[in-house]
Amino acid sequence: GHGLLTFDPGFKSTASCRSAITYIDGDKGILRYRGYPIEELAAHCSFTQVTHLLLHGELPDASDLDAFNRIIHDHNLLHEQVLSFYRGFRRDAHPMAVMVGVVGALSAFYQDLQDYSKPEQQMKAAIRLFAKMPTIAASCYTYSIGRPARYPDNRLDYASNLLQMMFGKPNEPYEVDPVIARALDLILTLHADHEQNASTSTVRMAASSGANPFACIASGIATLWGPAHGGANEAVLNMLEQIGSIENIPNAIKRAKDRNDPFRLMGFGHRVYKNHDPRSAIIRDMTKSVLKHLNKENDPLLAIALELERVALSDEYFIEKKLYPNVDFYSGILLSAMGFPRRMFTALFAVARTSGWVSHWLELKGDTAHGIDRPRQLYVGPTLRHVEKPHS
Ligand code: SDX
Repeated sequence: GHGLLTFDPGFKSTASCRSAITYIDGDKGILRYRGYPIEELAAHCSFTQVTHLLLHGELPDASDLDAFNRIIHDHNLLHEQVLSFYRGFRRDAHPMAVMVGVVGALSAFYQDLQDYSKPEQQMKAAIRLFAKMPTIAASCYTYSIGRPARYPDNRLDYASNLLQMMFGKPNEPYEVDPVIARALDLILTLHADHEQNASTSTVRMAASSGANPFACIASGIATLWGPAHGGANEAVLNMLEQIGSIENIPNAIKRAKDRNDPFRLMGFGHRVYKNHDPRSAIIRDMTKSVLKHLNKENDPLLAIALELERVALSDEYFIEKKLYPNVDFYSGILLSAMGFPRRMFTALFAVARTSGWVSHWLELKGDTAHGIDRPRQLYVGPTLRHVEKPHS
């Protein structure tokens, strides 16, 4: 019988672990990393500082930050042999497909890191992954356009470095626009962690079996790719373009409300936030100021997004179902104004979320009482039946 089982499809009301990393109150729209409100971290801290906070539990002082940056700089190169992985992919492969493959394959490179029961080895693997992700993501892009990959420049901060590896040409110094670098850094911070979302839960579940950290993070990247999760930032832009003009908004709203129409408002709704997503207001403000800086205030997609948000938020269906714009509603418009091709959006989310994934991986490794994850099911298949004896 099923007497002792709780049926909770999609784990809507099951706490799968204890965690001291991120706190969310979905009814109040509160998000905190290690106790600090996301608004304060976004305003005053860099993504590298925030990652130190997620990984180590505390914001770094100047000397902690120096030491943290030194380790990142030690590990942000890709082995030249890893670049040959890229060559096996079609140039037009989706960057997320390439990332799943390359990150998973890194487990074959780090045979030296085999004793993951040692805390120093765990931390080394976590930082190694964090350090390499911008290089991995930028190489996806440079490979797709046939440009040689650039090396990390350790004079630059994490976000600026990602920008120069993406957009720098082989024989030209790349001049980082500080406004763009700041915006990218903020996007990374806002996406860094979000407790037990689908990809992080996947990483933890993979880790619970003792799988190596590179394979665990690859499984997180695979899960993040879906349009219901991290793939939404790319899907939002496709949707806004498909809507095309303000006049078409009412029809889009009508379709989104129709149960028999698969069309949904991408970038709307959240499993946990039923009031607002505190990240989306921060991104909306940053989007407006970056577009102003770039003289793109009249961006037609921004106009559609603002109007779509306004109409949806005054529509009974969205009010009743508590559907609000989530973190990815504006991030695509912002990233695209900053020059990122649409297909890289989710790869950038993966770079950001690696910060959270490795922190959760580390936390799980430290929780030695947590055994292998093993949900049960409600069996709904045939009851006992027998194979007919063959007629002789
Ligand atoms: C992220 O979990 C995290 O923390 C994720 C994330 C993170 O940082 O890790 O925050 C990042 O993944 C953001 C979400 C990105 N996804 C999208 O923007 C895609 C569009 N949104 C949805 O598909 C949906 O809202 C989810 C996946 C985000 C949440 O899904 P739930 O909680 O399972 O809710 P549901 O699908 O069961 O929806 C409840 C009702 C349904 O209607 P009824 O069946 O009750 O009549 O609301 C409707 C849904 O049809 N609904 C929508 C809608 N989202 C939900 N209707 C129209 N448009 C939408 N976007």
